[in-house]
Amino acid sequence: MRKKISVIGAGNVGATAAQALAAAGVGDVVLVDIVEGLAAGKALDLYEATSIGGFDVRLIGSCNMADTAGSDVVIITSGLARKPGMSRDDLLKKNTEIVAQVTRAAVAASPNTMLIVVSNPLDAMTYVAGKVSGLAKNRVMGMAGVLDVARYRSFLGEALGVSVTDVQAMLLGGHGDDMVPLVRYTSVSGIPVTELLSESELAVIVERTRKGGIEIVNLLKTGSAYYAPGAAAAQMAQAILQDKKRVLACCAWCEAEYGVGGGFVGVPVVLGAGGVEKVIELKLTSKEKAMFDESVAHVRQLFTQVDGLL
Ligand code: NAI
Ligand code: 2OP
Repeated sequence: MRKKISVIGAGNVGATAAQALAAAGVGDVVLVDIVEGLAAGKALDLYEATSIGGFDVRLIGSCNMADTAGSDVVIITSGLARKPGMSRDDLLKKNTEIVAQVTRAAVAASPNTMLIVVSNPLDAMTYVAGKVSGLAKNRVMGMAGVLDVARYRSFLGEALGVSVTDVQAMLLGGHGDDMVPLVRYTSVSGIPVTELLSESELAVIVERTRKGGIEIVNLLKTGSAYYAPGAAAAQMAQAILQDKKRVLACCAWCEAEYGVGGGFVGVPVVLGAGGVEKVIELKLTSKEKAMFDESVAHVRQLFTQVDGLL
């Protein structure tokens, strides 16, 4: 039997994730949106593409969460996206309402699902989903690190004139301008990147990675990035559904890990059939730890705001 993935929110990110999931043959996809006809139209269009691409999966669209029943993975992309002049945090109040409502409904329909949250502000919305879903913490996670690492790898590949597939990197912290790309843990086919680029060249790439989201918002003017985010969410779902044990940067629940003391934040994890199977703790320098702690302090403020809203 094929796996079932539901994508809540058939907007830019949701439809792109559905397309990536179908193209990789990960499973059948149900797209859900509150806008009448939007999910049904996009799902039908995507389904009609399957015969060209040769993907044996079914896609349907709906306004009704009941159609998601029995999902193995639910990806939540519903919510407002930012426009120029807005930070991710500006979306907090409205998206807390939306994410809480769709999480409750999605988990009622699929009590054994894994949840991948995409809506922004990402760490806070993952916290919302964790709080209202009642699911074990390994079953709830957020997508940001896969996207941020992808941006970082692309910029490094471009600067070095090498294949992006040969660039390996890791990144920690919240999905904000204070995320922490780990230069010490970045390599090109095993060669430390510090052997290939100067400190100042790397600093420019790290800064561009941190501001990767707003660079695209400022170009698009009407919304935010979706091709890479959709592909990133699909990669996480694939890792779970095919039990790949991928080592990816994800927003995951940390207790003792990294001294977080209970909260969702970006860390390296092993992602497989058990969801977040393990948080990998890296040794950090005092400077890296200070940057990580600053990022965690920022997302903690958002958790407190969420607590006041729920
Ligand atoms: P979009 O506006 O294209 O799509 C959002 C969709 O959600 C709309 O179609 C809307 O009708 C739907 N929606 C709203 N309330 C709903 C509800 N209660 N039930 C079902 N559907 C509902 O926005 P886009 O570009 O797809 O972005 C979606 C979210 O993902 C935003 O919050 C954005 O900031 C976030 N995002 C996060 C990224 C990350 O790295 N974590 C990357 C890119 C976007
Ligand atoms: C991004 O980083 C909007 O969070 C989204 O592109």
